[in-house]
Amino acid sequence: MSGKPLPIVVLVSGRGTNLQSIIDAIAAGEVPAAIRAVISNEAGAPALERARRAGIATEAVAHRDFPDREGFERALLHVVEGYAPQLIVLAGFMRILTRTFVDRYRGRIMNIHPSLLPRFPGLDTHRRALEAGVSEHGATVHFVTGELDAGPIIAQARVPVYPGDTPERLAARVLEHEHRILPRAIRWFAEGRLELRGDTVLLDGRPALEALDESPT
Ligand code: GRF
Repeated sequence: MSGKPLPIVVLVSGRGTNLQSIIDAIAAGEVPAAIRAVISNEAGAPALERARRAGIATEAVAHRDFPDREGFERALLHVVEGYAPQLIVLAGFMRILTRTFVDRYRGRIMNIHPSLLPRFPGLDTHRRALEAGVSEHGATVHFVTGELDAGPIIAQARVPVYPGDTPERLAARVLEHEHRILPRAIRWFAEGRLELRGDTVLLDGRPALEALDESPT
């Protein structure tokens, strides 16, 4: 690997298995990035412990300490900017970010969502997918814009839905793929191959989903 690693900040809220997949991929030399800090809105998030174990700086900005979303975001933005990231990764970050935050980092914030967007934005995606009777489900990495789980798509991974699946079994099947596509998307970005132009995601200069031969359902 040559050149300087891309400085990134990862925002988390919970257990942090996606964070772990990024930490591991960087440690394995697969992703030319360096996690400057892991920041959580939940001081007790297990993800922060994973970061500490990997020797990464951690911060907690507890949304409950602020009277409104704007106050929380101002504080969060301040902490994030202290680490001067070139990319912000939302890896199981469970707060909605407003336009003030998102526009400041347009084309430089990505999120992992456990469904084949545009299907099933929001919470509880695995249960909802089973209730809808889909035969295929999956995960999406996308650039974050002002709308919830609706930004331009970078990559998707598909998994089959089997008869008798439970939300837990389906979630585990999807999660394995999340752990592959999120580090891969960060690698593309760090290698300078990924770009948000208008509302189109370009990978190596071609629309990303076309380049991957995977179009959203
Ligand atoms: C993942 O399924 C992610 O797609 C969703 O929240 C979950 C977080 O899991 N946004 P983890 O904290 O990365 O283990």
